[in-house]
Amino acid sequence: MKYTKYFSLIVLFIVVMTSCNKDKNNPGYDYMGDHDMYYTKYYKAYTPNPVFRDSMTNQLPVEGAVSRGNMPFPYATAGIGDRAVNQTLAGMQLTNPIAYNEETVARGKELFNVYCKVCHGETAKGDGHLYTSGLFPAKPTSLVEAYVQNKPDGEIYYVITAGSISGLMGPHGTQVSPDDRWMVINYLRSLAK
Ligand code: HEC
Repeated sequence: MKYTKYFSLIVLFIVVMTSCNKDKNNPGYDYMGDHDMYYTKYYKAYTPNPVFRDSMTNQLPVEGAVSRGNMPFPYATAGIGDRAVNQTLAGMQLTNPIAYNEETVARGKELFNVYCKVCHGETAKGDGHLYTSGLFPAKPTSLVEAYVQNKPDGEIYYVITAGSISGLMGPHGTQVSPDDRWMVINYLRSLAK
């Protein structure tokens, strides 16, 4: 009985000592090593995938998914008639989510100077360099007069996103992020006469 105890201790000692593996490139044996839980089967982004029905690993977001920082814009942007209706609709339905304060007005000014000043001018009265130099044929609207200042934020947001109804001013939705558009609007409000 005594010897069996020592014998099993010696066997255990040998097993423990030999189970350490000095080969750094080989993990050695492991318990349940073939199990998926330990070694996950993964598929690289652009490789075929047997799990999905369309066999693509990179899946499109589900329909209706809204990406971070984006606001749904369910308004028609083509056709003069549809544009007019949708600009009015945006004016009634959208509210500016960006607080009006010194900081957002200052950021709006920076953005205005980058995206709008060339046409609408330093003081937003419609006398930007592109127009006064004759390079751009259409007179940009003054943004400080009642005509624009009386429009709700959502309408101006529509114009920045989709362009003016006539199409003379092009859309800026791909260049200016939604939050930035609202900040430009805050800046325009600070210019009200
Ligand atoms: C390439 C020149 C150009 C740029 C850049 C430009 N605009 Fe305009 N914008 C115009 C012209 C031209 C009009 C008049 C268009 C018309 O009457 O259809 C106009 C009209 C507008 C109007 C009045 C729309 C209406 O309903 O009558 C607003 C508001 C406006 N712009 C805001 C902006 C803002 C904000 C930016 C910067 C994000 C900007 N624009 C950039 C040329 C420009």
